[in-house]
Amino acid sequence: MKISGTGSVLPKKIVTNDMLSEFLDTSDEWIYPRTGVRSRHVISDERLEDMAIEASKKALADAGINASDLDYIICSNVVNEYITPQLSCIIQGGIGATCPCIDINCACAGFIYALQIAESFYRSGFVKNVLIVSAEEPTRMTDWTDRRTCVLFGDGAGAAVLTPGDNIKGFSMSAASATDKLYQIRTLQPTPYITKEEKDVPLQMKGQDVFKFAVKASSSDITKLLKNNSLEASDVDYILLHQANKRIINTIREFLDQPMEKFPVNIEDHGNSSSSCCPILLDECNRKGLFKEGDKVVLCAFGAGFVSGAVLLEW
Ligand code: COA
Repeated sequence: MKISGTGSVLPKKIVTNDMLSEFLDTSDEWIYPRTGVRSRHVISDERLEDMAIEASKKALADAGINASDLDYIICSNVVNEYITPQLSCIIQGGIGATCPCIDINCACAGFIYALQIAESFYRSGFVKNVLIVSAEEPTRMTDWTDRRTCVLFGDGAGAAVLTPGDNIKGFSMSAASATDKLYQIRTLQPTPYITKEEKDVPLQMKGQDVFKFAVKASSSDITKLLKNNSLEASDVDYILLHQANKRIINTIREFLDQPMEKFPVNIEDHGNSSSSCCPILLDECNRKGLFKEGDKVVLCAFGAGFVSGAVLLEW
């Protein structure tokens, strides 16, 4: 398969670090050097599904195919207002597609996992055109009185349309269960029979543990990916890393010993929009005309679970 079109949508509300410091004990002086984030796009009156539909339509237009030509939709999402139906089915109706659709929740690594699932569909031979859409609203998961978490995130939707080709050169995926490091719990409806104690817990994060996992997992995923393809880091043109923290990006860049120009970033004015980070960044690079045909591009992300993954593709 190959990526033939991309699209993305951000919420209109922009929240700066200075705006956060109006109601939180924080500051731009703390947030920016520690994370690389100066502002983020935050959902206000938008609905996530509408953003996902718009991002999908943009990706379809970029690929030059109709929604009716799609054979599958994979939506990567951690949380949205619906428990059911799945977001992919809402998107399917919104864009006017009729194909099967499935949601996956692989936290911030969701776009890479969705690509790997799509690749296996192509290898099975039953799809021609696939839409992957990552739609995330992590700002609805955090406690906005908790300065350790809410300052990191932003919302958004990013999509990619896949068509036949041999541009995907390989994946390297990993998972290491560490469910106490990054999690959110929400209560379900009570029943007359529930006797266990249950409570809503907003997003909890052991920041330094997540930082260490992120660097280790992504460095190892990329190293394995390059080795499997008999490549050196210097052979790769661009590495698009999950936009969680500029210091994480820099640490991985130093490990790979590659120049900053190879690492496009948008974290400064986007923050971490979970699995939407990768396709939003991909779309921004694509629309700027950054990639030339034949460029070797690595996408790499990590997230709660922990899960992580990297993919090598030829543009
Ligand atoms: N503003 C001001 N002070 C803050 C703050 C904020 N927004 N957030 C935390 N602090 C304070 C802490 O309370 C702590 O104060 P104390 O020493 O008085 O207790 C101090 O800053 C240091 O906190 P610490 O958590 O050790 O900071 P850190 O250097 O590890 O940076 C993160 C915190 C969250 C930025 C960093 O750990 C990180 O980015 N981790 C990875 C997170 C991530 O990627 N999550 C998403 C994964 S998909």
